[in-house]
Amino acid sequence: MTFTLPNLPYAYDALAPHMSKETLEFHHDKHHQAYVTNGNNAIKGTEFEGKSLEEIVKSSFGKNAAVFNNAGQHYNHMHFWNWMKPNGGGNKLPGRLQKKIDDDLGGLEKFKTDFAAAGASQFGSGWAWLTMKNGKLEVTKTANGENPLVHGGTPVLGVDVWEHSYYIDYRNRRPDYLKAFVDHLVNWEYVEQLFSKL
Ligand code: FE2
Repeated sequence: MTFTLPNLPYAYDALAPHMSKETLEFHHDKHHQAYVTNGNNAIKGTEFEGKSLEEIVKSSFGKNAAVFNNAGQHYNHMHFWNWMKPNGGGNKLPGRLQKKIDDDLGGLEKFKTDFAAAGASQFGSGWAWLTMKNGKLEVTKTANGENPLVHGGTPVLGVDVWEHSYYIDYRNRRPDYLKAFVDHLVNWEYVEQLFSKL
């Protein structure tokens, strides 16, 4: 497949003040665009041409760094834009998600704390995740462009902790960015959509 940059599902200024127009302009238009462009160049003429994005991510891991890094980040960012919405967050989760988080992770408040801690403690660039693996939800973290797909799980929520995701708005205060993400930005309806397919 050829990667294409999707439009943001909201206006560039829709997530302010928690994530600014300037951050989204750089993050979406420059960084995500670069993963799309570089990914397409890396895939051209290889065995990965013609595979789905998920297949490319899984099959290039550990084999072709240029393909994997860009395909992984394309996958991660396609979801990341949808994992946020204006007036997101909140304390009531849709569908079966609330009970599953209660059962597997000790409740929503504990999940928020653990998820933010995973993001804050990821050394260098990476992501924190809410992952479904072997029928259970778990909080994980990965470096760089890696995601749960290459560790036997499926991500239902993820937060980008690369500096490009927060440095304009929060400078070095990554924990403040993570708190704003869980309290005000998470699009739980999209998380439930992914969760309900598993
Ligand atoms: Fe990013």
